[in-house]
Amino acid sequence: MFMDKAYKIAIIGLGYVGLPLAIEFAKKYKVLGFDIDQPRIEELCVGEDRTREADLVELQKLLNSKNESSGLKFSSLTSDLESCNIFIITVPTPINRFKAPDLSPLLKASEMIGKVLKKGDIVIYESTVYPGCTEEDCVPVLERHSGLKFNTDFFCGYSPERINPGDRVNTLTKIKKVTSGSTEAVAEEVDHLYAQIITAGTHKAPSIKVAEASKAIENAQRDVNISFVNELALIFDRIGIDTTDVIEAAGTKWNFLKYKPGLVGGHCIGVDPYYLAHKSESLGYHPQVILSGRRVNDNMGMFVANKVVKLMIAKGYPVKGEKVLILGFAFKENCPDIRNTRVIDIYEELHQFGMEVTVFDPWADPVLVRKEYGFELDNVLIDKNYKAIIVAVSHQEFLTLDYKKYKESGAIIFDTKSFIERKYTDARL
Ligand SMILES: NC(=O)c1ccc[n+]([C@@H]2O[C@H](COP(=O)([O-])OP(=O)(O)OC[C@H]3O[C@@H](n4cnc5c(N)ncnc54)[C@H](O)[C@@H]3O)[C@@H](O)[C@H]2O)c1
Repeated sequence: MFMDKAYKIAIIGLGYVGLPLAIEFAKKYKVLGFDIDQPRIEELCVGEDRTREADLVELQKLLNSKNESSGLKFSSLTSDLESCNIFIITVPTPINRFKAPDLSPLLKASEMIGKVLKKGDIVIYESTVYPGCTEEDCVPVLERHSGLKFNTDFFCGYSPERINPGDRVNTLTKIKKVTSGSTEAVAEEVDHLYAQIITAGTHKAPSIKVAEASKAIENAQRDVNISFVNELALIFDRIGIDTTDVIEAAGTKWNFLKYKPGLVGGHCIGVDPYYLAHKSESLGYHPQVILSGRRVNDNMGMFVANKVVKLMIAKGYPVKGEKVLILGFAFKENCPDIRNTRVIDIYEELHQFGMEVTVFDPWADPVLVRKEYGFELDNVLIDKNYKAIIVAVSHQEFLTLDYKKYKESGAIIFDTKSFIERKYTDARL
């Protein structure tokens, strides 16, 4: 029966996840892209995108579409939501300063949707949460503000997002999508809906909780695996051998998993395990492996900074007052996203040693960096007499820098990504 339904889809939250989703659905259905951030709506309405995830030609085409049954509009007016019958929520799910889930954006979005919800509507959550969050935390808000009854009047789905910003190969439609629904029939309907845009196919999970848990463990697994090699990096530094060399040797065995050490930032891998841990703790189990992995990963920035200082002292540099250059501030390569970047840990540690720290990132927005982190980021590389250079992010632009020149002028070079030519580095993770 749902095959014939005329969907009007609202995507709530047009960031890294919401915008690509709105674009894909708009090729097949009428889509309203909604965000509370007015400047974001204004930029999207003129076909611009600060996340650099959207194909701007495609975006413009959808904005101009005169098609009766598809096309894209953007708005920050809640009244525009009233005509929609599918609501897909892609708002942030951060942690607070105590590393506990901060559900406020999710609950505010649920409250807003509750006020426009009608009989027969479906609310699908895509934001990463802990198992149980949709039905135990969001549904009561939807019921309260709509006066409607869950699974009688309205329904829910959960379909976790797996995109990888900056990755031009594994894009939204090419990644298999997990789907779920609050009843058998709704699960079918949600699955069918996503199958219209996801060419890689869908996987219908048996329940919303299973779908929520599947996303949480994808990121927690990656976090734990990286924490293992990060711990190895701490051990091998003391032994005096190169971690990448060891991993390369061990990786010749068929079942060795070749994870690389590094900073674990961003709002997914470094955050989602805390969601899972929170749920676990609420049920009386204090996770050991998940949280110890988090502790190791959260301390890598400090390790890098301290190692650089030791190398400088070994060279007879006074440290205090010396100029140091950090290459990259975004939480990952070839992407402007600075949320929860752990490069800040290196910056702050070096700053505490009294060094003059320059951070160069051609991708990140200096205005946002000033607002979020309170220092001036350089978008242009200025040559100074740097005594240390830290490759913190493997942006493609950093491959072609003249490391030979820096080395010849006495700079210590630390490569946290094992990314640049090894002969120029003094140490790497
Ligand atoms: N970015 C990723 O790589 C990625 C990948 C998979 C899953 N996720 C998850 O998807 C969710 C969204 O992440 P993102 O990276 O797109 O976040 P984002 O910060 O890029 O975008 C979120 C958008 O939601 C808007 N917003 C906040 N509160 C709102 C509200 N009440 N109503 C309407 N709009 C609101 C913000 O203004 C912002 O534009 C998070 O749960 C995240 O963990 C992100």
